[in-house]
Amino acid sequence: MRPVEIKKDIWWVGVVDWNKRSFHGYSQSPLGTTYNNYLITDEKTVLVDTVDQEFAGRMFCNIAHVLQGKKIDYFVINHLEPDHAGSLAQAVERYKPEKIFTSPMGEKALRAHFHNSADWPVEVVPSGKSLSIGKRTLTFVETRMLHWPDSMLTYVAEDKLAFTNDAFGQNIASSERFADEIDRSVLRRAMAEYYANIVLPYSPVVLKTLEAVAAMGLELDTLCPDHGLIWRGAAEVRYVLEAYREFALQRPQPKAVIAYDTMWHSTEKMAEAIADGLVAEGISVKVMSLKANHHSQVMTELFDAAALIVGSPTHNNGILPLVANLLTYVKGLRPQNKLAAAFGSFGWSGECVKILSEALTGMNMELVEPAVKTKFVPTHEALGQCVELGKKIGQAIKAKTGN
Ligand SMILES: Cc1cc2nc3c(=O)[nH]c(=O)nc-3n(C[C@H](O)[C@H](O)[C@H](O)COP(=O)(O)O)c2cc1C
Ligand SMILES: [Fe+2]
Ligand SMILES: [Fe+2]
Repeated sequence: MRPVEIKKDIWWVGVVDWNKRSFHGYSQSPLGTTYNNYLITDEKTVLVDTVDQEFAGRMFCNIAHVLQGKKIDYFVINHLEPDHAGSLAQAVERYKPEKIFTSPMGEKALRAHFHNSADWPVEVVPSGKSLSIGKRTLTFVETRMLHWPDSMLTYVAEDKLAFTNDAFGQNIASSERFADEIDRSVLRRAMAEYYANIVLPYSPVVLKTLEAVAAMGLELDTLCPDHGLIWRGAAEVRYVLEAYREFALQRPQPKAVIAYDTMWHSTEKMAEAIADGLVAEGISVKVMSLKANHHSQVMTELFDAAALIVGSPTHNNGILPLVANLLTYVKGLRPQNKLAAAFGSFGWSGECVKILSEALTGMNMELVEPAVKTKFVPTHEALGQCVELGKKIGQAIKAKTGN
């Protein structure tokens, strides 16, 4: 995609990765993604972030198109993760910038990523520091742990614009550059998917940062994330800030996720019966086999759900590996305000539900009991217990969500 001038003399010079399906190797990105970076052509020419190394060549083409032979004076590096700083070494070599601005933690991360950076002209900018580049002033604001210690945003007061790096991004490859050009429900889903799988553990930081930004009284009418679509206009800025506040609050909806794996379908039958109980209580349910659904898809569904119900047969005195994988993944993302329950089939020793229940309480989820465990193929009666468990969870969800 060619460069796009998003405001006078502020250009998108990034790359669309239409084929990306595994984001950072752990999360699915079914719609692809973009690596957005930006060029400001003021008295000083400033490059804000770079792109994944794989696409450095395309970024250089886009930059050349805008520069028309001019040089780049400054780099601003808002975050050192390789999807944004991956082309930094090549860019330094090519443009020989006068200065590279980054946060205090950014400098540390830069040195640990680029071992040949000793002679780079790195200048650490403390949070709140401003820099004149001609008609414009850049202000750097640390956003520590959103989502790395080095993360910062760069604010351009004159344009009421902020380069927010990973914050407010979405994994969407598109020919459009602005959020208002895309179907809103697709966009909202992609925002939630991104938040649930990347930003969620830092929700307390999101709330504090939103408060801090409000207190700073920054005027904002454009937010430029480093993935996906750009938010333009005051109404769009309000929309995305409010969406992040809602995401961070993690208010559960009347919805449950049943995630399970099975060898011979007994645990699967139990999953269906629990779903029937939930539906009887008017709760929306997603029944997710872990063979059919990637852990990141489960996380996206769990994000706004009130309950996580996990099933596994007993396998070698333990649980099946796909279920253990999901539990590890969910634990790291620290979802809040969830009810939980466990179920599974077994043959002789039957450790499954104990292991699942402990894992769920270990994530501060509130267990709805009794967990259901059946010997080999569930009887009609055992499936009845599953329906009852589903109803009980449904009632607890209604009490929790006020529905
Ligand atoms: C390879 C293998 C290992 C198993 N290990 C155990 C075990 O350690 N303890 C136990 O109670 N059952 C064990 N079982 C029995 C299963 O838990 C039982 O067949 C259960 O009904 C399978 O449920 P599913 O149909 O949902 O896969 C094992 C089964 C298999 C195939
Ligand atoms: Fe990142
Ligand atoms: Fe990123």
